Amino acid sequence: MSISINWKDLTPALFLEQYWQKQPLLIKGAFKHFDDPIDANELAGLAMEEFIESRIVSNKNQHWDVAHGPFEDYSKYGSKEWTLLVQAVNNWFAGVDELIKPFHFIPNWRIDDVMVSFSTPGGGVGPHLDQYDVFIVQGEGKRHWKVGLPDSSLQQVLPHEDLKQVSPFAPLIDEITEPGDLLYIPPNHPHEGVAIENSLNYSIGFQAPNPQELLSALADFAVDKDLFTNRFDDRQRQVTEQNGILAEHDIDALINTIQESLSDRKLMADFLGKHLTSVHHSMNLMVPVTPMTSEFIEDVLKAGESLYPVLGIKATYINSPKNKMLFINGEGFTVVEETENLALAFSNKHTLTYDMLKSSFLCLKNKQLLTSVINMGFWCFEQ
Ligand code: SIN
Ligand code: CO
Repeated sequence: MSISINWKDLTPALFLEQYWQKQPLLIKGAFKHFDDPIDANELAGLAMEEFIESRIVSNKNQHWDVAHGPFEDYSKYGSKEWTLLVQAVNNWFAGVDELIKPFHFIPNWRIDDVMVSFSTPGGGVGPHLDQYDVFIVQGEGKRHWKVGLPDSSLQQVLPHEDLKQVSPFAPLIDEITEPGDLLYIPPNHPHEGVAIENSLNYSIGFQAPNPQELLSALADFAVDKDLFTNRFDDRQRQVTEQNGILAEHDIDALINTIQESLSDRKLMADFLGKHLTSVHHSMNLMVPVTPMTSEFIEDVLKAGESLYPVLGIKATYINSPKNKMLFINGEGFTVVEETENLALAFSNKHTLTYDMLKSSFLCLKNKQLLTSVINMGFWCFEQ
């Protein structure tokens, strides 16, 4: 399935200018003849797995409850007022992964995962805020969506310890979504979706790290690699009149010590590439039982097979003139002029055929990059 968005009067550029991170948007009929890539039974099957993150939120008679998967049996929930939410379904269903493609006008590294929910009539997670941008595609069924604007007077409500909600808000969008409708919700905009009939929703979620996360991950990276060990240097020190004071110039110098560490661009690119392509959800890497040689890979491709990116991998390429690096799932690969095209194909998560790779087999560096990526289980011959 290859799907594209019917933007109506908008284009991706206009959407970014007018709506992205600014205001919510509902595009009715954004996907023509939308075909659900998964059904409720298949979703319930995923939620039976220990290694897949899932939860059920129910609101029977105004009583909110949250249960965490895996789930074996749904009979106690009945036929209304509950919803099953499963994270990173794109790591397991190719058709769900395809739902990311219409959003390729935003770079890969910004995308987190596709969460799929199945809601029975009256089901939803209640009014709440999310810290991240999300596109929600309405699959099967109908749902009543309300989306408001950020409002500092909203109260936080905790009807259950695992359920953060907000007090009722004034909706800017108040509509019933039908199959193929697309809703965009910027961060911190209150929203609520209540199913009218059994309903599937696909949430394409984005990641937007804050300095706390970045600095914490950078500290781990530095400890791991024994970096940033240069000590504070004050060889120009003058006599201190008030030895109890931490002086402004010392604060400046200490801040400078931190800033100098951050100004190593090559190091920061390495850190960012690894951090932003790290996958937080379980997935099925296809590490071959015995490592493949480039001759073997060439033979299999020549025989007509293709190499597919494993579902859910995250890849990005940094092509600054002095520092070219490819990152896949938190691993970094140095790129040289000869391997640039192959690195770009990996970063775009292309399916690779013999025709595309023919010239790569004439170059040792390309063969090394290709075999490393395959032997790490990131690309494989099975779809
Ligand atoms: C959903 O229930 O499908 C989406 C939940 C949300 O609003 O984040
Ligand atoms: Co939400």
